[in-house]
Amino acid sequence: MAIQWFPGHMAKARRQVTEKLKLIDIVYELVDARLPLSSRNPMIDEIVSSKPRIILLNKADMADARVTKEWLSYFKEKGIHALPLDAQSGKGLKDILPLSKIVLKEKFDRLEAKGVRPRAIRALIIGIPNVGKSTLINRLAKKNMAKTGDRPGVTTAQQWVKVGKEIELLDTPGILWPKFEDPLVGYKLAVTGAIKDTILNLQDIAVYALNFLKENYPDRLKDRFGLEDIPDEIVPLFDEIAERRGAVMSGGIVDYDKTSELIIREIRSEKLGPLSFEKPGEEI
Ligand code: G4P
Repeated sequence: MAIQWFPGHMAKARRQVTEKLKLIDIVYELVDARLPLSSRNPMIDEIVSSKPRIILLNKADMADARVTKEWLSYFKEKGIHALPLDAQSGKGLKDILPLSKIVLKEKFDRLEAKGVRPRAIRALIIGIPNVGKSTLINRLAKKNMAKTGDRPGVTTAQQWVKVGKEIELLDTPGILWPKFEDPLVGYKLAVTGAIKDTILNLQDIAVYALNFLKENYPDRLKDRFGLEDIPDEIVPLFDEIAERRGAVMSGGIVDYDKTSELIIREIRSEKLGPLSFEKPGEEI
């Protein structure tokens, strides 16, 4: 997947989302439960302000359950509807319809009072690339039909997917960009696999990841890499991990790229367990 981050593409993506919004009652905004703020489009609140919305904290299976709870309270306090979700296994899926009905009750009651026959809720899934939009659409539609790829610039005819009797979903999601120009947001997105390594320097991502683990999950860092203590400085920490993983070349030279790659790969494949890279209250 190549994401093209030119202003023209962004404007087009935004326009397409705005067009889709005219057709629907509710937005399901997918964010990554491991980084619920960094995995949002910076302008999303403004873009979808005209529509009711539920934030779906997807990939909750990969996030720290304790932190996900904190996020749910955070959103609740702000009066924002949010649900945890694992679109891959389907866990949490059953909660979407009941909450949608609550959110839309007034609108549908109003329509009914005007004599409009009850109809299915029309919904749009929105989110940054790789957050799980296609997985969720496929799950809801129970078949493989959302293979659109990440092409913010491609226009396709709108198709509706029936989800039971009570929801109709646009089959192509709204794809928006993350706040990629902020380096910290970039590292978080890279370490979780939302953006590809080539955009950012591999070693920089690994340095971010190690500092983060040192600070937030020191025991897991120690356990995974068999460290007795965590060195204060980042280079000795790299060196120790490299040594334990056979990433030291002849002459004792550490292969920092190889070490960085394995650190990132192991985090992404959950070898260090479920991790959350953002907590409510932290500035991003
Ligand atoms: P997108 O349409 O928003 O771009 O995302 P997509 O559904 O393609 O999902 C991106 C990756 O995330 C996929 O992995 C998908 O299986 C995984 N995924 C989606 N939802 C969940 C979830 O709730 N939990 C977990 N653990 N994974 C989820 P992939 O096909 O292996 O792609 P990749 O690993 O090459 O990125």
